[in-house]
Amino acid sequence: MRAHQPVMVDDVIKYLNPQPGHIYIDATCGTGNHSYFILRKTSGRCTLICIDKDPRAIMRARSYLKEFSENVIFVRDGFENILEIVKNLKIDIPSGILFDLGFSYEQISNGSAGFGFRQDGPLDMRFDPETGISARDVVNNFSVDKLAELLKKYGELKNSLRIARLICEERKRRKFETTRHLSDFIATCGISGKGIHPATRVFQAIRIYVNNELENLSAGLNSAAKILMQGGRIVVISYHSLEDRIVKNFMRKTHNLKILTKKPIVPDEYEKKTNPSSRSAKMRAAEVIS
Ligand SMILES: C[S@@+](CC[C@H](N)C(=O)[O-])C[C@H]1O[C@@H](n2cnc3c(N)ncnc32)[C@H](O)[C@@H]1O
Repeated sequence: MRAHQPVMVDDVIKYLNPQPGHIYIDATCGTGNHSYFILRKTSGRCTLICIDKDPRAIMRARSYLKEFSENVIFVRDGFENILEIVKNLKIDIPSGILFDLGFSYEQISNGSAGFGFRQDGPLDMRFDPETGISARDVVNNFSVDKLAELLKKYGELKNSLRIARLICEERKRRKFETTRHLSDFIATCGISGKGIHPATRVFQAIRIYVNNELENLSAGLNSAAKILMQGGRIVVISYHSLEDRIVKNFMRKTHNLKILTKKPIVPDEYEKKTNPSSRSAKMRAAEVIS
């Protein structure tokens, strides 16, 4: 299996600017690729708190970062709980935090996590497979109106009511249990997507809902601005406009932040070509000024 390729590594390192002896947080450590470069930049002489909700990601990162194990603290939790996480660790004030949002290549290509429509698997989509409700519950049990609302809000689908109605008709015939069933069915619903699979936005909407992603992002960012030292950096990579809007507004409106990226940084053509997952990425960075 191809491994997750980290996005915009050079820019992440430039803006996070990790220094030996300081503490950094990788709020979405995933497989640990960005973590690796943060640790390498300081020759393994910083402390890195690696957070992820997904226990499978923590296991992969633990193995990937073995050579730096003395400098890394792994935390299986949500970044929305970052205030408590930092408090419980009883560490000094961190100097930077990275959020690389969304999902990793390992998550999307592992059918058993139920994230992707290209691999068949149980319809789940939870980053933490032990809490909350699964995509299966949403698709099989939500009312037409509730489904339509979340498809519109999180998938920005214009014909959300029609799609919700079609889903509810289909589930009377056969309950949705697998990602393949849902994606094949959505492909018959007549959604036009500019060069993207018709199921892309439906899956995005359900995944955002199931993981409470936008509310968690706001909570994580607000907490980040409170826990960092003066001069500390917040670096965020987002992958769709709903996330980027939250990040942009947060950086503009938070009084103790100075924006370092007037416009979002995007991958160059070479990166987009060699790492298709980076195509929609936007990076923004800010510095704590008080
Ligand atoms: C794009 S991947 C990170 C990849 C990582 N930067 C790398 O290069 O290997 C995003 C990760 O964020 C995790 N995640 C998503 N929401 C989270 C949350 N609220 N708290 C903690 N981790 C979260 C996912 O489980 C996933 O592993």
